[in-house]
Amino acid sequence: MSDRGRAYPGQTIVVQYDVKRCIHAAECAKGLPAVFDPNRQPWIDPDAASPDDIAAIVMRCPTGALHFERTDGGAAEPVPDRNRTTLSADGPLYLRGQIEIARMDGTVLLHDTRVALCRCGASQNKPFCDGNHAMAGFTDPGQLGTNQLKPVDPMAAGALRVTLAPNGPLLVDGPFELCAATGAECYAGSSGALCRCGASQNKPFCDGSHKAIGFVAE
Ligand code: SF4
Ligand code: FES
Repeated sequence: MSDRGRAYPGQTIVVQYDVKRCIHAAECAKGLPAVFDPNRQPWIDPDAASPDDIAAIVMRCPTGALHFERTDGGAAEPVPDRNRTTLSADGPLYLRGQIEIARMDGTVLLHDTRVALCRCGASQNKPFCDGNHAMAGFTDPGQLGTNQLKPVDPMAAGALRVTLAPNGPLLVDGPFELCAATGAECYAGSSGALCRCGASQNKPFCDGSHKAIGFVAE
C-alpha cells in the first residue's frame, strides 16, 4: 500500500501519481495546467515547468496522490514538524505531518506527509478516501464535537500513528492538532478514537455507533 503509483520521469524530477488516492478537484491542474492536464495523455508532463514549481504544487495535493523525487539534487519534500488533522465539510479527514497508518497487528501500511482518510464509511479503498462520500450522501459540517482526546502528553513526539481498529474507529496516537473544517477551532491531543463509519453523534470522535450499524472494515 506504500506504493507511490505510476511514475512520470522528467529531466530533473520524477512525479509519482496514485490514481486510487486522487479525489480532489484539481488542485494540481489549477496550479500548473501545463504540467497537469487531465485531457492529455500522459496527463503529467514533468518537463513543462521548473522542478521547484512542480514540487510546490505536488506538496499542495491534500490526499498524497502525488509525490515527487528530484533527480537534480533539489530538496526532497520536508516532513512537517507538527501533525495536523483537519475535517472537511461532507468529506474526509485530511492529515498532514509525520503520518503512519498501521493495522491492529502492528503492520505498517503507509508512511506519508499527506493523507486523506475516509470518515463516511463508504470508501471502496479504505482507509483512504476515494470520493464516495458524495455518492453516499454523507453530510457533516466538520465541526468539533465534545473533546474526547487525551491531553497532550509532554513526552509524545514525532509521528502520528493511525491504527485501524477492525470494524471500528481510527485510533490516533501521537502529538497532533485536530481542527474543524473552518480551521478556526482546533483541539490539541495525543491520542483518541476518530469515527470512520459516519454514524457517530459526536463527530469526529467515535461514540460506539459503529457496532449498532454493523460497520465492517479491515
Ligand atoms: S491535487 Fe492530488 S487529489 Fe487533487 S486532483 Fe491533483 S492529484 Fe488528485
Ligand atoms: S467508528 Fe463511527 S462511531 Fe465508532
